[in-house]
Parts: sequence; C-alpha cells; structure tokens
Amino acid sequence: MSDEFVLGTPVVRAFIEDVRAAIGAAESPEQACEALRPRFARLLADPDWLPAEYQAAAPASGMGGGIGQWLLYRADDGALSLFSLVVPSGSATPIHDHLAWGLVGLYRGEQDEEIYAARDGSLELVERRSLVPGDFYALIPPHDDIHRVRTKSAETSVSIHLLTNDTGCVWRHSFDPESGEASPFRSGYVNVPCEDAEAAVESTS
Ligand SMILES: [Fe+2]
Repeated sequence: MSDEFVLGTPVVRAFIEDVRAAIGAAESPEQACEALRPRFARLLADPDWLPAEYQAAAPASGMGGGIGQWLLYRADDGALSLFSLVVPSGSATPIHDHLAWGLVGLYRGEQDEEIYAARDGSLELVERRSLVPGDFYALIPPHDDIHRVRTKSAETSVSIHLLTNDTGCVWRHSFDPESGEASPFRSGYVNVPCEDAEAAVESTS
C-alpha cells in the first residue's frame, strides 16, 4: 500500500494524517465529518499551502468550460482523495453527483451552487446557496449529492474537496438539466491519469 501524494508537502501530509485518524475513530460518516470540521476550516483559512498550479484553469478538461480538477492526494485503495476544483469566472460544471461522503469548501472566489434531488427520473431544484471563501459543508449522499456550481466572481473560484472515493476516476453521473436523465460521467483529473486508463495505454504500447 502506498498512498499517492501529488502534493506531498508537510501541510498536506499532516492534514491527511489527521483526516485518517478522525475517520478511523468515527463510527459514522456524520461523526467523521463533524470531527473534521475544525481541521478542514483551518486548511481553507491557510492562504499559503496550495501552489498556483493547482489553482489554474484547464482548457481541455473533462468537465468542460476550462474547469480543472487537480488531484492533490489519493489513497492507494481509492477510499479517500483530496483535490482542488478550479472553475473560471462565468463557467459552470455539469449537474453531477459524487457517490461518496466528505467535505467540500471554497478556497478562492465566489460560487453559486444549485442542489438537486432525483425524483422519479427527473430532477428537482431543492436549494440554491452562495459560497464565499471559508464556507464549507459536509456532503453525505444521497443528501445534497447532485449539484452544479457556477463561479460568479470575476476571479476564478477554487474549491477543495475531501471525499471518500477517487472522485475523478470513478464512474458517476452527469444529468441533463431539462429531462433529468443521468449519463455515465467520469471527470478525470488534469494532472494524473486514472488507473484503468494507464493500463489501457500500457497494453497497447
Ligand atoms: Fe461537485
């Protein structure tokens, strides 16, 4: 077992160590998220730990709109990941789900978020909220799992995601905003491949 620290700084390593300890000691996702709140707030409040390259837009990304999903850390068993999501001004993600619990918070810029509930094959908009730096929430599916974020600031927005899957590489869903129809969706990461993509490349070379 070797975890993958794409950004292996002392700050990120210490954060992940604390996260793993909190998850190990918790009896439920709710309890783990609650225990992690102060630690996550501290990471969001630290202006120095995230290098500029992980706050940059990505013109050719799987999300479209120049949206960059940068992996910072993932566990070897795919049960935990930390990544930044960079959304240029005016761009919006597709409506998507995550299929894992964790914490999501805003680091830079301002975002509008729309949260949907899947009902009988269609989508219902259940909440709109605005996020400013330092705001974060626990995501515990199925509650609040389907959403879309749009950057409303002139500045690019950067959100930090700590989720209990390898979010960029798992097959999840995007949703048609009109019909609510779900489609298979894998966002990928800008800076690292997904394992089966790597295997496919190896097998053809
Ligand atoms: Fe999301």
